[in-house]
Amino acid sequence: MDADSVKHIRLLLVDDESEFRNTLAKRLRKRGLDSLQAADGDNCLAVLADHAIDVVVMDVVMPGMNGIDTLYQIKQQYPQIEVILLTGNANTQDGVEGIKHGAFDYLTKPVEFDHLLGKIFQAYDKIISEKRQKAAEEFKTRIEQQMIATERLAALGTLAAGVAHEINNPLAIVNEAAGYLKALLQKRELAEMPHRATFEKALEKVENSVKRARAITHQLLADVGKRERVVVEIDLEALLTETLALIRREAEKKGIRVQLEAEGEAAPLWADPNQIRQVFINLLSNAIHASYDNSEIRVYIQSTTAEAAIEIVDSGIGISRENQGRIFEPFFSTKSPGEGTGLGLYVTREIVEKFGGRLAVESTLGEGSRFSVIIPNQIGFSDDGSGTQ
Ligand SMILES: Nc1ncnc2c1ncn2[C@@H]1O[C@H](COP(=O)(O)OP(=O)(O)OP(=O)(O)O)[C@@H](O)[C@H]1O
Ligand SMILES: [Mg+2]
Repeated sequence: MDADSVKHIRLLLVDDESEFRNTLAKRLRKRGLDSLQAADGDNCLAVLADHAIDVVVMDVVMPGMNGIDTLYQIKQQYPQIEVILLTGNANTQDGVEGIKHGAFDYLTKPVEFDHLLGKIFQAYDKIISEKRQKAAEEFKTRIEQQMIATERLAALGTLAAGVAHEINNPLAIVNEAAGYLKALLQKRELAEMPHRATFEKALEKVENSVKRARAITHQLLADVGKRERVVVEIDLEALLTETLALIRREAEKKGIRVQLEAEGEAAPLWADPNQIRQVFINLLSNAIHASYDNSEIRVYIQSTTAEAAIEIVDSGIGISRENQGRIFEPFFSTKSPGEGTGLGLYVTREIVEKFGGRLAVESTLGEGSRFSVIIPNQIGFSDDGSGTQ
């Protein structure tokens, strides 16, 4: 173990003989190791409550709570701490008992200093390697979770595309039937039919609804079914205005006004309009969900020759600091299961980053949130071109 890592060992010496403790501490100091001291078991637990300690070196025979009982307490409360016991020569039985209770090892008194030092290093090595192993395991679980999420996303996309496709058939039949009835109403023998105008109006409604349902299924098929990215020149303000029209009804239900302000000379932006629309729909519907009734959502577009910056600002419930770190994770949602999948921001960030852009949030709990999207005009594709789901 090098001199630098030795310095990091946080050591506690527990023994009722102060002279023994002091001598040991002094010798350890000479080898680069600082230590804290405690005179008995109670004192030891008090020190542990206030200080982070890695290794405890402790005498077994002490007045009050003995070393074995103290060890038991330590392992209950701080399982990560390693304890080295010092036993009397005639009492190796104590040492064996200690190991049963989770001690790292035991040494018999009188202690050979270098032997003890070696044990302290070994105990610390064990702590470090366990920490590394834990970190590696956590990393592995995180990656696995992310992969599961990505697969679920892909499955969701396939499912949505499948459903959209299947719905097109019955929609076509409804449309045809409505058209047939409409043509029938035009026949001369039905000219005097009672409530003819009402029938006509109702059929028009059917046709319009079919048109809407078709537009939705086309959207779904275009958004998720297609793996390839279409990249075209986009007029950002026009695209945003169009997107606002899609979510306006939802906003109006809560009496929310959505204002759009554009600034700067818009340079042509090259991207996939379906995906960029998806980004704004996700951010805007989040803003609507978070907003109080009769409040306002502001959308700013700022264009330079290099990039476009879009900000969506609400004065809603805001996001706690803690949650700000998690909202981009797949399936993180504070909404009830029927209301949110927790995929919105995850997908949004994926899309933005795929176009070489950035998505960021600033928020104050109780005051509101500002989501900003920055998209470079010259797209530096950050993936292999396989598109996003
Ligand atoms: N503008 C906002 N104000 C306050 N909280 C927000 C805002 N936008 C997102 N959040 C928080 O981030 C969480 C995750 O958002 P995300 O869009 O990923 O999922 P969702 O909205 O819960 O569900 P989905 O979008 O899939 O329907 C939300 O549940 C919410 O807690
Ligand atoms: Mg959402």
